[in-house]
Amino acid sequence: MSKIILVASGKGGAGKSTVSALLAEAFASKKHPTLVIELDSGLWSLDVAFGAAENIVFDLGDIIRGSCNIEDAVVPCPFCEGLSLIAAAAKPAAVKTETIEKISSALSEKFEYIILDCPAGIGETLENAAKCAELGLIVATPDPSSIRGAGRAGDLLSSAGVPERRLVIERCPRKAKELSPIKNLDEIIDGAGLQLIGVIWEDPKTRSAMDSGEMLSFESPNYQTFRDLSERIRGRYIPLGFK
Ligand SMILES: Nc1ncnc2c1ncn2[C@@H]1O[C@H](COP(=O)(O)OP(=O)(O)OP(=O)(O)O)[C@@H](O)[C@H]1O
Ligand SMILES: [Mg+2]
Repeated sequence: MSKIILVASGKGGAGKSTVSALLAEAFASKKHPTLVIELDSGLWSLDVAFGAAENIVFDLGDIIRGSCNIEDAVVPCPFCEGLSLIAAAAKPAAVKTETIEKISSALSEKFEYIILDCPAGIGETLENAAKCAELGLIVATPDPSSIRGAGRAGDLLSSAGVPERRLVIERCPRKAKELSPIKNLDEIIDGAGLQLIGVIWEDPKTRSAMDSGEMLSFESPNYQTFRDLSERIRGRYIPLGFK
């Protein structure tokens, strides 16, 4: 069986798709085949990050309508072996739990990890995804409304019975004083009420990897950050190292 990880946030634009794509790349580059499913219906966004914008013929909507086989909608990433994408349905509609379960059982031999890139907020798709995820990563940027939203998303995942829920702080400045009005990372952790599993740095190379459909550069400070995050998820103890 694949391990299903969902990526959520309270507020939009927190970095869910970035975390989904680059965590998936980190797993795949360590020979753990990984599929990302975009659940944010209405908008494709990861096709560009995966360098696959020209290669998508079928998407999640086609799977839902039964107009293609599940395998036909799985698009391999051209620059990272073992990394694949199912692009979002074009029509905005909540994705059902059964759809995710059907895909994961059809592809369980092929992928060790399935990452669900969820829509922002605490809507129906998140509730449905929560019913089949083993781990929920809740992404927040260091700003008060994003932190509050992360707390609410964490509560929803907890009520839905997601066994493990962890906080990922995204777009963290390298200098503590730039966190203002937030005083320190503990304030974010306490505000969200979640255990921290990773801190992703604000970094132009991370943004350009997503915009240009290329592998995250070795020179990015987040190159190791995402590999460490993937190892922590696999149960290895890697200190967060900045507290
Ligand atoms: N660590 C980072 N450093 C710099 N830019 C980043 C970082 N993480 C994300 N971004 C940028 O922030 C913007 C929002 O990121 P992203 O699309 O991943 O958020 P999202 O939570 O998926 O948004 P949405 O709620 O719209 O789905 C993008 O332009 C992305 O390139
Ligand atoms: Mg997104």
